Amino acid sequence: MNILFVSAEVAPFAKTGGLGDVSAAIPRYLSRLGHDVRVVLPLYKRVREYAAKHNVHFTRVLDNVSVQLGQRKVVFSIVEAKLPGEGVPVSVYFVAQPSLFDRAGIYTSDADEHLRFSLLQWAALKLCQFQQFSPDIVHANDWQTALLPLMIKTAFKWDRLFANTKSVLTIHNIGHQGSFASSALPDTGLSEVSEHFHQEQLKEGRINFLLTGILYADAITTVSPTYAREITTPEHGVGLDGFLRGRGAAVMGILNGIDEDVWSPEKDKLIPQRYSADTVELKEGNKRELLRKMGLPYHPRAPVYGIVSRMAWQKGFDLCMEVLPRLLTQHDVQVVVLGSGEPKYEEFFSRMARELPHKVAFHQGFSEPLAHLIEAGSDFFLMPSRYEPCGLNQMYSLRYGTIPIVHKTGGLADTVRTVRGTRYEHGNGISFEHFDATAFKWALGYSLELWGTGDGADRARFREIQRRAMRDDWGWPRRIGDFVRAYRAVLPR
Ligand code: ADP
Ligand code: GLC
Repeated sequence: MNILFVSAEVAPFAKTGGLGDVSAAIPRYLSRLGHDVRVVLPLYKRVREYAAKHNVHFTRVLDNVSVQLGQRKVVFSIVEAKLPGEGVPVSVYFVAQPSLFDRAGIYTSDADEHLRFSLLQWAALKLCQFQQFSPDIVHANDWQTALLPLMIKTAFKWDRLFANTKSVLTIHNIGHQGSFASSALPDTGLSEVSEHFHQEQLKEGRINFLLTGILYADAITTVSPTYAREITTPEHGVGLDGFLRGRGAAVMGILNGIDEDVWSPEKDKLIPQRYSADTVELKEGNKRELLRKMGLPYHPRAPVYGIVSRMAWQKGFDLCMEVLPRLLTQHDVQVVVLGSGEPKYEEFFSRMARELPHKVAFHQGFSEPLAHLIEAGSDFFLMPSRYEPCGLNQMYSLRYGTIPIVHKTGGLADTVRTVRGTRYEHGNGISFEHFDATAFKWALGYSLELWGTGDGADRARFREIQRRAMRDDWGWPRRIGDFVRAYRAVLPR
C-alpha cells in the first residue's frame, strides 16, 4: 500500500508526548512490512536544532510552492530526511515555512495556530502531487491533520491521483480538538467547500478540526479499546461522543505498541546497566545512577517512585498534591520527577524537592536520556491520570520491570492488571478504580506492602511481579497488523 502519514509530532525530530513516539513507530513498522510510507511533519525550529546537533542531512524536495490560505499567499518548501533506526529507511518530509513554524514550541497559543496546521495539510497533499504519489491511505493524527479526509473528498477530488484514496483518522486525545472561531475558516483554504463543515457549529460561530475529521474519515481509530468505548460516552467524549456514536463501527480501538528498538532494557543505549527479566537484580545499578544524578542518597530499602510526564490536568497530579506529602513524611520512600507544564504542578514538585531534599528530586524540563534512566532506575512508576487514551509510559515501565501504579482508565485499564487479591498470579501492576485521594492512597499503601521490608522472601515476591511485567509483549510487531487490517477494510476491493 501507499500510505501518506501526517502528524504534528514525529520522534526524535519533534516530540512533546506519546504522539511523537507513535508517529515514528507506525511508519517504521509499516515500512518493514513492505508498504511505501511517506511521513509529513512541519520543520519546526526544534527540528532544525535537532538536525544541527545530530548531523541530520536534509535533501531539498520542493522549493517555493505557494498556496492561498484566506487572505494570505503562503509560500513553503519541503526538505526530506530519513527516520533514524534500523531496517528500511523511512522518508520524512518537512514543511519549511519559517514565519509559521520557526517558533519556540511545536504548539502555540498564537492567533494563527489554525493556519499553521492548515498549511501542513495542504503541503502534504501538494507533496503527493509533485511526487505523483497516489496514496491508498492518508493517515491523519489528531486535530492538526483532521481536515485531510475532507480535503481529499472536496478540494483535491479533481485530481485522479486521489481517486481511490481513503482516509484513516487516529484520535490520540479527544481533549484537544482544534476548535476555532468560524472567522478562521477561510485560512483553512476550504471556503469554497464550507458547506461541508458542520453547519450548526458554523451558525454558532465555530469550526472544529477534529469534528470535521470524525465526519469525513473513512475509518476512525483511537489508541486503546477502552478509550474507544469511553469517547462514545458523554463523560469522556468532550462534546463529540454523539458524532462518534453516529459513525458506529467505523470507530475502533487499536492499542498502541512500544518501539523496542528504543525502549527495551536489554538494548537501551541511554542507561548505564542493561538487564532482562532473568537479570532484573541488575536494575539496581540504574537506581544508584538515577539517585546519584538527581542528587538523592541511595537507600536500598527505600522504594523509588518515578514520574515522567507532561504536567497537564489530564495526568492527575492533583491526586499527588493531595496524597504524596503525607506518604513522603510517613514512609521511607523517594520520588523522582521529570516533566514540565502547568505551573501549579511544577511548583508543587519544586516545593516538595526543597522541603524534602533527601526524598524528592524534580527535573523541570524535557530530557530523553533522563526519561530512560527513570524508567530503568525506579521501582514503581506513578500514572494517576484522570483520563489516558493509551499511555506509553506504563508500557515502558512494565517493559523495564518498574511496577506501574495507575488509575484504571483508557489504555491504562487495557495494559495494567492489578495484582490485588485473587488476581495476584496474573498481575503486573497496581490500578485503582476511582479517581480520588482515598483510592490513590490505597494504591500507594499497597505498593509498600508489595515492596515489603526489603529482606529475603519479601523482595522475592516483588521480583516475581517485575519479571512477569517484563515478559508481557507490548511490541509493535504484535499490533501493526491491526492497522493494516483497518486500512484494508476501507480500501476498494
Ligand atoms: P502523552 O502522550 O499523553 O504525553 P504517553 O504516556 O503516551 O502520554 O507518552 C508520553 C511520552 O512522552 C513518553 O515517551 C515519555 O517518556 C515522554 N515524555 C513526557 N514528558 C517528558 C519529559 N519531560 N522528558 C522526556 N520525555 C518525556
Ligand atoms: C496522547 C495520549 C496518550 C497516548 C498518546 C499516543 O498524547 O494522551 O495517552 O498514548 O497520545 O497515542
